[in-house]
Amino acid sequence: MLQNEKQIKIGRNDPCWCHSGRKYKQCHMAMDEKIARFRQEGHIVPDHSIIKTPEQIEKIKESAKINIAVLDYVAEHIGEGVTTEEIDNWVYELTTRMGGIPAPLNYQGFPKSVCTSVNEQVCHGIPDAGTVLKSGDIINVDCSTILHGYFSDSSRMFCIGDVSEEKKRLVQITKECCEAGLREVKPWGFLGDMGQAVHDHAYNNGYTIVREIGGHGVGIDFHEDPWVGYHTKRGTEMLLVPGMIFTIEPMVNMGKADIYIDDKNDWTVYTQDGKPSAQWELMVLVTEDGAEVLSW
Ligand code: MF3
Ligand code: CO
Repeated sequence: MLQNEKQIKIGRNDPCWCHSGRKYKQCHMAMDEKIARFRQEGHIVPDHSIIKTPEQIEKIKESAKINIAVLDYVAEHIGEGVTTEEIDNWVYELTTRMGGIPAPLNYQGFPKSVCTSVNEQVCHGIPDAGTVLKSGDIINVDCSTILHGYFSDSSRMFCIGDVSEEKKRLVQITKECCEAGLREVKPWGFLGDMGQAVHDHAYNNGYTIVREIGGHGVGIDFHEDPWVGYHTKRGTEMLLVPGMIFTIEPMVNMGKADIYIDDKNDWTVYTQDGKPSAQWELMVLVTEDGAEVLSW
């Protein structure tokens, strides 16, 4: 059913679809009308299913608190000699102790609680006892939490010991890409505004961004609409409206953008040219007047 057909059925004095208990005309009606105008102009617009209610946002924020706490713990304890398996154990122990479930565990057959991607691994690295972090490594630790059915998802990079200037720069610029994207997140803007900002910062610095894997809506489910790419143009892609939550998680490559998937585990993504890749991931809420970072 089209969004508009659903909306037509809600009377001005009916209860709002968001279950706030308020009348539609005092709740989401004006917003829906504004969205409908954008749709008529030919823009991609969000469905109600990905616009979170205040109650849902509170629950998602609780989940995000665990995600942040787990990444903070990793930040304090990661270093030379630590295995990625140990990181996996920390994530499992802490998440469950706080009442959550690590979302990656058994997700489409993923065998561990967290993704750990080292150097030329782009994403979806599988923790194992044989991977010992050594001086000079850069690693992405990607945590996702389910709390009472609500999802959060964010990741950080860590530099181990003595890291080369060129790898440190890759890590730093990748973080700046996320910040540049974040500045473009506001209601009644477009996802493409964010994507172009991320893209331009990477490419202006001589890097490339992986095309095939992107961010995603998140909160009620692990991966929701919209799909979040970075090869997009300002003024295009989905309209941003208050209550949307999605991730910004560009994978920035020092060399070419091309990737391949490990055919032994069907998960781990590598750069084709073997050069390093970095990724940061934040989870952002579109608010009435801008954006709020829920986890990073
Ligand atoms: N942040 C990653 C993503 O959104 C987490 C993947 S977990 C995995 O794709 F289980 F799919 F590996
Ligand atoms: Co994600």
